[in-house]
Amino acid sequence: MSDKLRSINGLDFAVADLSLAEAGRHQLRLAEHEMPGLMSLRKEFGDSKPLRGARIAGSLHMTVQTAVLIETLVELGAQVRWVSCNIFSTQDEAAAATVVGPTGTVDAPAGVPVFAWKGETLEEYWWATMRLFDFGDGQGPNMILDDGGDATLLVHKGVEFEGAGAVPQPTEDDVHEYRIILETLRESLASSKDRFTKIAAEIKGVTEETTTGVARLYKLAKEGTLLFPAINVNDAVTKSKFDNKYGIRHSLVDGLNRATDVMLGGKLAVVCGYGDVGKGSAETLRGQGARVVVTEIDPICALQASMDGMQVVRLEDVVGEADLFITTTGGTDIITVGHLSAMKHNAIVGNVGHFDDEIDMAGLAKVPGIEKIEIKPQVHEWRFPDGHSVIVLSEGRLMNLGNATGHPSFVMSNSFTNQVMAQIELWTKPGAYEKQVYVLPKHLDEKVARLHLDALGVRLTTLTKKQAEYLGVDIEGPFKPEHYRY
Ligand code: NAI
Repeated sequence: MSDKLRSINGLDFAVADLSLAEAGRHQLRLAEHEMPGLMSLRKEFGDSKPLRGARIAGSLHMTVQTAVLIETLVELGAQVRWVSCNIFSTQDEAAAATVVGPTGTVDAPAGVPVFAWKGETLEEYWWATMRLFDFGDGQGPNMILDDGGDATLLVHKGVEFEGAGAVPQPTEDDVHEYRIILETLRESLASSKDRFTKIAAEIKGVTEETTTGVARLYKLAKEGTLLFPAINVNDAVTKSKFDNKYGIRHSLVDGLNRATDVMLGGKLAVVCGYGDVGKGSAETLRGQGARVVVTEIDPICALQASMDGMQVVRLEDVVGEADLFITTTGGTDIITVGHLSAMKHNAIVGNVGHFDDEIDMAGLAKVPGIEKIEIKPQVHEWRFPDGHSVIVLSEGRLMNLGNATGHPSFVMSNSFTNQVMAQIELWTKPGAYEKQVYVLPKHLDEKVARLHLDALGVRLTTLTKKQAEYLGVDIEGPFKPEHYRY
């Protein structure tokens, strides 16, 4: 239970400060202007309300852009509850504005129950996530909108433990966060023997935002344990080839500047991973004049980095020389304590992959004699006993959201337009999807792109009938086969 929990006129919420709502609303207004995809869905579906009856449990960074997504879902008829999917990523003014809503006031909020604030503890994070599952009158959600898969994980673990009749005791190897999850579910099981089993039976599907969450879903589907259909929003072309790449191109440097204000030009920067996020990270650091080198495990991505003019190295080759380390892999143990202790004085270390285990933060805290000095929130100097330090951003969690405000509205409009369409798809077509993972059809991907062209003054060429026949495509699209890679 958090002391932030409040209830006004039946609307429960937990945010940092509701009086930030006005400041948040101003930002939302500006963001709406930059989110043409979402605003056009409001126009297209505002009257027909295809999401009527949907009770959406949303776990996705509670930013200004997400607030515009939430209000779009509401305008399309959904009931929504929301949490952030990261302890540092909430913009408190956006959370407040979402609770107050477009028509409410601070004294009479009329928006959406949000349980999120910047700087939650892990205990508070999982407490908040549990709030997603209580829509009142004994009702749970019937849809999930997830980023990284934590809401989906709670339902799956809940069902698993309810089936087994007990929550297992944590083992020696279980990390702190998993222990908290077990504790959270133990409390739930004590109060209801089949709460998550009932919730899972009601859920029509989940739409997942990010690479890491999608990987979790494919794993469940492969094991045959996925409990409901899923749409992989991440792999819409207008999501991963835009948000992951161009979004990070904006927000990585924004985070570095706000956190450290260090001159990037001339510095040696290591980008671990050259997937979509890695490509955007390398490009933006280069744009600042940094000398960028890349680490990769995949020969294709390594070759791409090399052809893009970047040296591909092993971390060990450069660990003592580099000034800046950015992990983008979605993997684990990328930067170990051994690496951290071999870095030069005041090397900056940040992660933009989804979870914090890319950098061994737990191991770092256990180094004998290490000192952690807070420079400012989400910026820490870790001083080794030999006197040299490394600067770690956002405690190893997504630093573009922890140290800045994440990706800008325009690119998030692409991602979130896919999200809304995926929610409509699963909600309005029950039975059309198996308990598998799907991507949105290409014509919808093209629609998302189309909705963002006017704002940029793009004048698209239209195929002639002859040209369309020659290419073997329809004049209206889709223009590419499924296997095309963009
Ligand atoms: P991706 O799969 O396209 O790229 C990851 C790359 O890392 C791959 O090329 C892979 O071969 C490489 N890799 C894996 N293990 C490695 C290792 N040990 N050393 C070096 N390279 C390694 O995935 P994508 O879309 O680039 O996403 C990466 C992560 O970023 C995911 O966790 C995703 O959820 C997250 N993400 C974060 C965003 C943000 O705002 N910070 C936005 C979008 C995604």
